[in-house]
Amino acid sequence: MLPAQRRLHGLLLSPYTIPVMDTFRITGRRKLSGSITVRGAKNSALPILATSLLTDSPCSFSNIPLLRDIQTQVKILNTLGVETSWKGRSIATKVRDSYNNTAPYELVSQMRAGICVLGPLLAKRGEAIVSLPGGCVIGERPIDLHMRGLRALGAEMHVEHGYVHAKAPKGGLVGAEIYLGGTHGSSVLATENVMSAAVLAKGTTTIECAACEPEVVDVANCLISMGAKITGAGSPLITIRGVKKLRGAQHRVIPDRIEAGTFLLAGAITGSEITVKGCNPSHLLAFLDVVRQMGIEVERGKTSLTVRPGKRPQACDVVTLPYPAFPTDLQAQTMAMQCVSQGTGIITERIYPERFMAAAELKRMGANITVSNGQAVIQGISALSGAEIMASDLRASAALVLAGLAAKGETLIRRIYHIDRGYERIEERLNALGAKIERIPENEL
Ligand code: EPZ
Repeated sequence: MLPAQRRLHGLLLSPYTIPVMDTFRITGRRKLSGSITVRGAKNSALPILATSLLTDSPCSFSNIPLLRDIQTQVKILNTLGVETSWKGRSIATKVRDSYNNTAPYELVSQMRAGICVLGPLLAKRGEAIVSLPGGCVIGERPIDLHMRGLRALGAEMHVEHGYVHAKAPKGGLVGAEIYLGGTHGSSVLATENVMSAAVLAKGTTTIECAACEPEVVDVANCLISMGAKITGAGSPLITIRGVKKLRGAQHRVIPDRIEAGTFLLAGAITGSEITVKGCNPSHLLAFLDVVRQMGIEVERGKTSLTVRPGKRPQACDVVTLPYPAFPTDLQAQTMAMQCVSQGTGIITERIYPERFMAAAELKRMGANITVSNGQAVIQGISALSGAEIMASDLRASAALVLAGLAAKGETLIRRIYHIDRGYERIEERLNALGAKIERIPENEL
């Protein structure tokens, strides 16, 4: 039973409270068994929640993961006049008023996806003031592509005192031909932001070099269920024919492919047989190809993946690129797996070249990793040893948990609020498979 619901500004927040500076104590080298069900995709739910701003009708979104980032996005919507109420993992929304169009720094700085309200606010209310999301440990996180796309739709935008000030033309946004490619290729949130704005623009918009991630398709499907006219989502060319008004959404978020890949590696790194349920293996083809190259035995079902123990995995080379190539969000977890594989693997990070924060902590556990110029060279060793380490960002933290499961002895991971941003009660779910992970509150360490 979820804890009683809490209120902020008289509005209902997620019924789920998430502690902040806790620590994980992990006892390594335990075999896992059984099955684990993935939750809804965080990176779908975050932009999809922002679509509630596009309509005056009530919306309901289901299969929402109960995460810190979701809580933050709900708080942002609440400050923008959206009333929310939870029932388990479903959330109902209704725009109560549109007096405030400012998404504040103290919330957007915690969670970059807060930038997703920019497009919907511009399209529906004609103006938006959204804090710049700021950088984070995985690298500088610019929003130039978001601004390029929204300016192409006619928005006047400038940055002042750390906020983006945006205004739509008097008659509203106007459809345009937009090229949305950057130095690192396509942008997931920029594609979603511009698409969410174009649905109410006058005329037709084409987005060239659109991101093709499954989460982009999920956002498009949610908008289509609201009456938007979108074709091409999932391909590099998306076409949107503007409509005057949208009805409410009734949308179930897709399964989280990054959770699925993370849990699959929990089985592989501990030499266990486990089944990951409720996932969509077709969203993980590049990752599954790397797992195959490493010699890890995986059986694919329609909505499940079963990993089985076999010979010691073989390290291999990995390059992260936009979907359908290998996802950057599974890079750190795969690096942890390569640390205890045989041979040498080279990971090239093309999306966020500095995204190797897990390396330093894995080296404290005995890993042999050399990082330079956006590449990590991993020489596999027979076993990691437990140590005191520090979580730094969401996916690096997941990599450290995997390492702790495999390491000899005990591993203490501090600041695990990072992991709570993207994995719902990961310790309870892994312990149900036979892991031994204790969550130690900050004041009890
Ligand atoms: C999304 O972030 C995901 N977050 C990230 O997941 C994921 O790592 C990333 O896509 C890449 O797949 C959400 O969906 C909430 P991008 P996003 O714009 O959209 C550059 C996680 O762990 N860029 O696709 O912000 C950017 O610097 C998170 O769940 C610009 O240059 O990423 C990067 O190099 C981490 N200008 C590349 O594009 C822009 O305006 C791809 O970034 C925007 C991005």
